Amino acid sequence: MSQLPKSTDENLLVGTKTNDDAAIYKINDEIGIVLTVDFFPPIVDDPFTYGEISAANSLSDVYAMGGTPIVALNIVGFPDNLDLSILGEILKGGASKAAEAGIVIAGGHTVADNEPKYGLSVTGTLPLGSQITNAGAKPGDCLILTKPIGTGVITTAGKQGVVNTSVMGEAINVMTSLNKAAAEAMVEVGVNSCSDVTGFGLLGHLLEMTEGSRVSATINRAEVPVIDGTLDLISEGIAPGGTLRNLEAIEPHVSWSKNISQNDRVLLADAQTSGGLLISVSEPNTKRLLNVLEDKGIDNAAVIGTIKEYNRAENSINVY
Ligand code: CO
Ligand code: CO
Ligand code: CO
Repeated sequence: MSQLPKSTDENLLVGTKTNDDAAIYKINDEIGIVLTVDFFPPIVDDPFTYGEISAANSLSDVYAMGGTPIVALNIVGFPDNLDLSILGEILKGGASKAAEAGIVIAGGHTVADNEPKYGLSVTGTLPLGSQITNAGAKPGDCLILTKPIGTGVITTAGKQGVVNTSVMGEAINVMTSLNKAAAEAMVEVGVNSCSDVTGFGLLGHLLEMTEGSRVSATINRAEVPVIDGTLDLISEGIAPGGTLRNLEAIEPHVSWSKNISQNDRVLLADAQTSGGLLISVSEPNTKRLLNVLEDKGIDNAAVIGTIKEYNRAENSINVY
């Protein structure tokens, strides 16, 4: 995007200048529309489940901004030589998540492609002034993560056929869960900043938040929720290429305590699909947010760290 000529529109309130999850466009003094698109090749064998995961992942970028999805369009690539019933299952999976989100899929577009690809372009709305960007974290805030991590490692192990069904089942559970309730909780309580945790991994998305907000962060490894079995797979040498590239990219910005092993570093950089919300919330509102999350059935949410004043002499993120 940095190669493109600069174009501006005064109604584009959140665009490409920041690393936010979705764009926000003002349509009048009260309402902004939230726009996002995401799609990727299959990460699980079952086509219906793949559709569910991809749709949940696409919707997540609207939720991360504090928006409410209203309508979506399918984006599909599909091989000429595959049975169309498989595509039907993918779309059914996506439609089931759209229904759960309370929206309809209004159409879409399909092209022939050697490898299937599926995702949604989602449009949402929010009351102007209430948008939650990843640039609002404040020193003293607590960092809350609403889903456990490990889906990158586990789906990679799945492709290699070396993961047991209960570990895979839990990862699928995590990836197909909408961030709807978590977003409603954070809008209800009021928070300073949010991003969903996806391809750049927990620390990659945290780094975007600390840089956008001009703050530093401290993460307590022991408090980070992890899907059971993930570390065993990492110790067997399983890690997606994207995860290792994430780790390389964040290393210059992270200070690690001695007790943080190389496997822990890989874990914290693991590229997630349809991960949880990473929320920066004032200390006085933290307890209430945890309570509301729990009331809404999100029992894996945890306080994993804190936001600190930016200090140019130190790295942006401290993991202990
Ligand atoms: Co996102
Ligand atoms: Co996205
Ligand atoms: Co068309």
